Amino acid sequence: MKVIDLSLALLAAVCSAQASATIEYSTVTGYFLQDEAATDPSTFDYTAVNFGLIDRAYPADSEKKNHCETKTLTQWERFYNQVEKLNRDSDEDVEYKVLFLGRHGEGFHNAAESYFGTPAWNCYWAELDGNSTASWRDAALTPNGVDQALVAHNFWQKLIQEQNIHTPDDYYVSPLTRTLQTANYTFEGLNLPHGSAQFKPVVKELFREGISIHTCDHRRSKSYIHNLFPKWHIEKHFAEDDELWNGVTSETSDAQDARSVQALGEVFFSSSSKKHSFVSVTSHSGEIGSILRVVGHRPFRLNTGAVIPVLVKAEKRKDHAPAPTTTVAWTTEPHCTVPPVTSGSVCVCPSSAAPVTTPLVTDL
Ligand SMILES: *[C@@H]1O[C@H](CO)[C@@H](O)[C@H](O)[C@H]1NC(C)=O
Ligand SMILES: *[C@@H]1O[C@H](CO)[C@@H](O)[C@H](O)[C@H]1NC(C)=O
Repeated sequence: MKVIDLSLALLAAVCSAQASATIEYSTVTGYFLQDEAATDPSTFDYTAVNFGLIDRAYPADSEKKNHCETKTLTQWERFYNQVEKLNRDSDEDVEYKVLFLGRHGEGFHNAAESYFGTPAWNCYWAELDGNSTASWRDAALTPNGVDQALVAHNFWQKLIQEQNIHTPDDYYVSPLTRTLQTANYTFEGLNLPHGSAQFKPVVKELFREGISIHTCDHRRSKSYIHNLFPKWHIEKHFAEDDELWNGVTSETSDAQDARSVQALGEVFFSSSSKKHSFVSVTSHSGEIGSILRVVGHRPFRLNTGAVIPVLVKAEKRKDHAPAPTTTVAWTTEPHCTVPPVTSGSVCVCPSSAAPVTTPLVTDL
């Protein structure tokens, strides 16, 4: 029986998202290659092209000229001045930030999905904790994934040395192990420019991956995260145990976008926000896809370990009534109880095993 043919039953709402729709987000194009239709995400290497920063002049260039006649500013210094100018020239209801959205390096769940094939992964293997040789519940980075994070580390270090890039003023990280590790390998031990913010990320629940029934989306406890990185901040009201993952229903993309709006609403217009214009978010492919939708960026799928900078304009709209508190339902995901008979692009459970919606492992 084809699992994908089953219509998804809507369950009682389990996610209540308060959309901060009074803030309108847009992507400011013209600065990064990733915004341009001609750029192919599948072959794009952010380390080969200066993060995608387009080589161009900015309105802010002329303002700074008199002070800097003896020194030619680098592209990244001039871009930072331009973002500062955009913030300076706009009123208090408008704020610009450059979000550096980083996808985690390869995790054991990514390797397993490639090994089993996506249909079989989705409808059976991903619902297990792992197999006898690999574990993928809240998956850790593979050695390859660690290397990908170190590529990002080396790239930041190179831009610091060669272009005096302004490093992030704020760092956020999803609470899943693969993103915690990726943020650590990327930013820990960088020789940061004088006067820049220290790397002390905030672990933020709402930047986690889309919450499916896959065990890789089930986060570990707050105590575990604290023990792994004792010096990092864990945001207020962060639950000890994962209260969102349930192994039965999955967040829809609408529910996820409502969550992303809420997350961004907690990042923009915070205290001294305009001065914190460069922000790093270490997250996941699905969640970064959702953030890109919410800020009106074109779809841009990242390979594991890749980073995309996006210049975002946020605008408070007083004329808009606050959005009602919306409740977006999640859906069930039927899956097999034994390894599927895979044939091509769909998952087929063996005839003796009809798809179920009950978890395969229940050690919650
Ligand atoms: C377990 O899964 C991994 C894929 O992540 C695979 O490489 C390995 O061979 C599997 N182990 C067994 C015993 O099947
Ligand atoms: C954090 O990164 C540092 C520097 O790369 C590394 O030595 C350390 O093992 C990492 N810690 C964890 C828990 O991954």
